[in-house]
Amino acid sequence: MEPISSNTLVDAMRWRYATKQFDSERRIPDAIWDDIEKALVLTPSSYGLQPWKFIVVTDIKVRGKILPHAWNQRQVVDCSHLVVIARPTHFGEEDIDRFIARTADVRGVDADSLAGFRNMMVSTLIDAMPDRLGDWAVRQCYIALGNLMTAAAMLKVDACPMEGFVPAEVDRELGLPERGLTTAVMCPMGYRASEDRYAALPKIRYRAEDVVERV
Ligand SMILES: Cc1cc2nc3c(=O)[nH]c(=O)nc-3n(C[C@H](O)[C@H](O)[C@H](O)COP(=O)(O)O)c2cc1C
Repeated sequence: MEPISSNTLVDAMRWRYATKQFDSERRIPDAIWDDIEKALVLTPSSYGLQPWKFIVVTDIKVRGKILPHAWNQRQVVDCSHLVVIARPTHFGEEDIDRFIARTADVRGVDADSLAGFRNMMVSTLIDAMPDRLGDWAVRQCYIALGNLMTAAAMLKVDACPMEGFVPAEVDRELGLPERGLTTAVMCPMGYRASEDRYAALPKIRYRAEDVVERV
């Protein structure tokens, strides 16, 4: 694969911004959405365990119900695709076994040959930090969020990462508790409205020399 030019990458990072106003008339074309979804699913995670579910909400009625629980941030209803990144409320040995089964299937090996790997994951995660698995899963979800935003920017699709919501209420609207899921973070996606003045504001970032250290 040829590397993309550094201009393409940095231009995309400068172009993107947390979109405050979406053009409610514009939908992300299916072909572009397919690529974004592929990039999302390809997100790396700790051990590759993928403790997440990506719920893509396009139904405007459902989004209308989420709106009051998202501080009435209009992006939820005006965007094209609302991505809710959820994590399992419980993560246990059965999830490790599911991943081992998938690995055996994809790589064409016997699951028993992966017993050492399986037991290592159980001891370093499930046994070692049972009270911190929720935080661990949320961290993985945020990697997916970052990947999603970068992929979108590369395809000139706008996004607004969103923590401003009441997770328990969003969960209830989406029927997540009965599925053993809870919302980690959301990301409305679509196209910016021409009148969104936030698009033109200069980015506020610390200077590279203040955040990057060279050793
Ligand atoms: C995890 C996370 C949660 C955020 N939550 C919200 C939110 O609820 N509403 C909103 O308008 N912006 C939200 N933002 C956007 C940030 O304020 C914004 O990314 C930051 O100020 C940098 O600006 P830029 O993304 O436009 O470059 C969130 C950003 C992140 C990364």
